[in-house]
Amino acid sequence: MEIIYNPGFLVECINKITQEGSAKVGFVPTMGALHNGHLSLARKARQENDICVVSVFVNPTQFNDKNDFKTYPRSVDNDLKMLQDEGVDVVFIPHEKNVYPTRKLHKLDLGGIDKTMEGEFRPGHFDGVADVVYRLINMVKPDRAYFGNKDFQQLKVIETMVKNENLDVEIIGVPIVREPDGLAMSSRNQRLNRKERKEAASIYKILKQAADVYASFSPDQLKSEIERHLNNTNLLECEYVEIVQEDDLKLVRKWKKGCKMRICVAVWCGNVRLIDNYRIVTYKNYDDSIK
Ligand code: PAF
Repeated sequence: MEIIYNPGFLVECINKITQEGSAKVGFVPTMGALHNGHLSLARKARQENDICVVSVFVNPTQFNDKNDFKTYPRSVDNDLKMLQDEGVDVVFIPHEKNVYPTRKLHKLDLGGIDKTMEGEFRPGHFDGVADVVYRLINMVKPDRAYFGNKDFQQLKVIETMVKNENLDVEIIGVPIVREPDGLAMSSRNQRLNRKERKEAASIYKILKQAADVYASFSPDQLKSEIERHLNNTNLLECEYVEIVQEDDLKLVRKWKKGCKMRICVAVWCGNVRLIDNYRIVTYKNYDDSIK
């Protein structure tokens, strides 16, 4: 496994490994503090491409809260070990000054899909995400880039950015990986204490139960029920619940036949903010997450 810090050496290194222009490059951007969710992205990238590049960069421009950036878990040595064991070819760990020679963000067209949910509660977050992904894609020049469905709105924002900016890369969403009790894997889970960690599993259970009975409620009633159940726990506090169409994130006002939707939530568990989502397909519910 090659570890590259300087973007100038990155393309040279990828070309050396592939030794020909036709080899396909799969790319997994991460902020480190890796878990099995990230490894599932790397595994898929390896399976579908000739080489797999993973970046580890805690991107300052996507944190709307300075303290969140400061306390974001960092564990590069452990990350490298996990990536080596997973058979990743190249790990790219750029320095901030190389990613941002100037602090000016690109003005990227995100088509308004960035304004609701996370965009509403974390102003500027998606400008930072889209900008860093744009920069990383331009450095790595992958054929395919992989993102987890847990950050479902992020996946849609990136798909939109890639389309609007005409980037020549295929964006692939990968199913949520969950802990055995249902909690969606996230680097932030490390910051939960024992009691919070136990309670955090209720998020998945409440979403799943809601999806099982969705047809007995209108979308608005279902949202209220989910919020009520989340806030009825000891430690969880719901920030938002939205039911959105999977393709364009438009809010669902009434159930339509054959519509694919996601119930998306952001929930505080102590000082840790967690997000999750669950798929509803009208008249046919199924759980696309891996346990
Ligand atoms: O999902 C993440 O870890 C980050 O938002 C990403 C896509 C690596 C951009 O910094």
